[in-house]
Amino acid sequence: MPSQAASHPSNSLHVLYEAHEGKVSDKWASYIYLYDAAFNKLRDRPIRLLEIGIQNGGSLEIWARYFPNAVKIVGCDINERCRLLTYDDPRIAVVVGDANDDKIFEEIKSISPEYDIIIDDGSHLSSDIVRSFGFYFPLVTTGGVYVAEDLHCSYWESFEGGIEAPYSSIGFFKRLTDQVNRENWGAPLPASAALSFFADHWKAQFDDASLGLIEEVAFRNSTVIVSKGKPEDSLLGSRIVVGKTAIVDAAPQDFAGHSAAAPDQTQNSFGPMSERSEALLMTLPKRVVALEEALAEMEKALAEKNAELVHMQEQAAHAAACQAKLKADLVETRQYPQKALADKLGFHVLRGLVATPLPVPARMRERFARSAAKRDPKRSA
Ligand SMILES: C[S@@+](CC[C@H](N)C(=O)[O-])C[C@H]1O[C@@H](n2cnc3c(N)ncnc32)[C@H](O)[C@@H]1O
Repeated sequence: MPSQAASHPSNSLHVLYEAHEGKVSDKWASYIYLYDAAFNKLRDRPIRLLEIGIQNGGSLEIWARYFPNAVKIVGCDINERCRLLTYDDPRIAVVVGDANDDKIFEEIKSISPEYDIIIDDGSHLSSDIVRSFGFYFPLVTTGGVYVAEDLHCSYWESFEGGIEAPYSSIGFFKRLTDQVNRENWGAPLPASAALSFFADHWKAQFDDASLGLIEEVAFRNSTVIVSKGKPEDSLLGSRIVVGKTAIVDAAPQDFAGHSAAAPDQTQNSFGPMSERSEALLMTLPKRVVALEEALAEMEKALAEKNAELVHMQEQAAHAAACQAKLKADLVETRQYPQKALADKLGFHVLRGLVATPLPVPARMRERFARSAAKRDPKRSA
């Protein structure tokens, strides 16, 4: 619980909440103290306030009391039953419909083209939160604030979140802090470039001009407050170097009055021109699967080549055996005396004649057989 809990003046938001008896409002205690601190500077101004998600409508009654000089207090809720909500205070208006519908956005804008305070207490789905920021942050006035409530939901899967979910609403607002430091990116990119993953993933649209005016992104448990300032409010400014003695390092004195100039980061592989890390994380599982598939293909091709190699080795072994046999035959042939060779040849020729399918008389076959038997190399051996 914020420290403000201990002391609250008689007209604080906390006191108004405690005393409230009208329509029901449902907020966490820490928000009440946080809003008191954050909205106090606007309290007596003719502000315009928009709350996305009003349910029973009680918060609008309380805001009307908290901001006595408010000009417009607008609530938007998708629940059709919110049409039953009526208020005596003419400053309060209720728009029924999806806050992220173009027509509803136009209706809200027609009530007031600008708002000093916008509170998103709608569905708490990451998609809705990111898209609503894209729709409504451009309507925030200079000096105004945009609040997103109940960001604890962004850690939960059922609200399109998770502590490591690249697309969660808390991830979006963490990424939004880069806008505060846009001067230091080191590349001439439009403000929305850092949010390109969220624009693609949630089909959200971001306005470069208003992103360029983000002065502060402040987190508390479950809330973020994004403040809009003048362009010069988020600049680093010039370097102020004062004093006369610099016995450790005189270098700072050379930079007195210098303006900030970020070194070029266009070649930095983790710089502003590189792929957004959220997109990288999202595509990582797919990339791993693609690599595994490519590896499996390569292993299959390698196995096929190995089988071919084994076959070729077998053929080579067979060829070597044939070659050895031929060599042996050659050696044997060379060693034969001519008669033995003639006998061997004769034996083969006569055996062929004995077995010939030609119509040879039986007696002649017998003679061939006898002559072959005489020349049979096995017999002589
Ligand atoms: C937590 S309740 C709001 C409580 C209220 N702000 C209060 O202080 O008592 C959330 C409300 O958001 C509304 N809601 C959900 N999605 C919405 C959307 N896309 N546009 C507008 N309202 C939405 C729901 O109907 C619901 O009434």
